[in-house]
Amino acid sequence: MREFNIAVIPGDGIGKEVIPEGIKALEAATAAFGIQLTFTWFDWSCETYHQTGKMMPDNGLEILKTFDAIYLGAVGFPGVPDHISLWGLLLPIRREFDQYVNLRPVRLFEGLASPLANKAPGDIDFYVVRENVEGEYSNIGGVQYPGSDNEVVVQQSVFTRKGTDRIIKYAFELAQQRDKHLSSATKSNGLYHSMPYWDSRVEAITADYPEVNVDHFHIDIFCANLVRMPEFYDVIVGSNLFGDILSDLGPACTGTIAIAPSANINPDKTFPSMFEPVHGSAPDIAGQNIANPIGTVWAGAMMLQHLGCDDVHDVMMAAIEEVIQRQESLTRDMGGIASTQELGDAIVAAIGNHR
Ligand code: NAI
Ligand code: MG
Repeated sequence: MREFNIAVIPGDGIGKEVIPEGIKALEAATAAFGIQLTFTWFDWSCETYHQTGKMMPDNGLEILKTFDAIYLGAVGFPGVPDHISLWGLLLPIRREFDQYVNLRPVRLFEGLASPLANKAPGDIDFYVVRENVEGEYSNIGGVQYPGSDNEVVVQQSVFTRKGTDRIIKYAFELAQQRDKHLSSATKSNGLYHSMPYWDSRVEAITADYPEVNVDHFHIDIFCANLVRMPEFYDVIVGSNLFGDILSDLGPACTGTIAIAPSANINPDKTFPSMFEPVHGSAPDIAGQNIANPIGTVWAGAMMLQHLGCDDVHDVMMAAIEEVIQRQESLTRDMGGIASTQELGDAIVAAIGNHR
């Protein structure tokens, strides 16, 4: 009997609607393999911020540290500025738990139309490996002479040798297991220090992976290429900002960002890793029961894979594929009319076909 303790943070908006569907799918998929998942729920969110002035309690990270993994919905809601909600919950977890890899698979499924013309399943199948704890997303900087004509705002980027090398190596390792093709996102013609440094580290590490073909694209043409020829890409590595942008653009090319998962991985396993959909709390559709839970279910599958249960991952992925292919019970973002629960139920039923 394999047993895992999972911390569940539904968070805000549709996070509260999609997480229960993810848990339904996880319970259905693990049951057949004799795996026991114990879920402990934490209501940390913008709502609790309004009540307590904090997104999570002061000992929040101490509490989370004891779990095998964290399953997160989404963070952020109107009424609390995004920099407060994200820096009060999501980003401290990623950083303090050294979840330095943000792994985001992108795939075009049979049954889902790409907004790009003439793209078939198989044409879009790549991974975005995003640096997750430093780079452009830093809280170093400040405002001088606020509110005056002399106002000055400084936002510092941080690229360390250790942080840059380890994400690039992770991407090379992944490329080695796949089609041996790595594409690095850069902007060395605009960012004078950080991106030439990034490029130099990619070059240096290339020597250790002679079988991997490496190319570099500036982020602007990278975005254009991803739309023009997504089939070209296999593994993409980017800094925190560039990886963030590419990992919304990629799934958008597969029909909907709502199916995309995001794994915040601490490869050393010294801390729990965290699994969540790529999308946010979607305040525009929150409470309507129309949110697509597939990104959350897929994130759950990645969580079980991280915990060493490839069998469960494969069953959950087969179920997602089947449901999308059958084109029944799809939510509105995929052209259907189903509710969040109806799609969740369809996934659970499909899991029954694959166990
Ligand atoms: P968003 O991803 O929440 O929504 C973007 C668009 O996609 C909206 O039109 C929304 O309705 C749609 N959408 C998103 N998920 C969907 C789903 N599962 N099913 C159907 N449609 C879906 O991004 P937005 O609007 O920029 O951010 C909203 C809030 O979420 C902000 O507070 C933001 O900071 C936060 N956020 C949090 C993230 C996280 O927790 N990791 C990631 C991205 C945003
Ligand atoms: Mg994003």
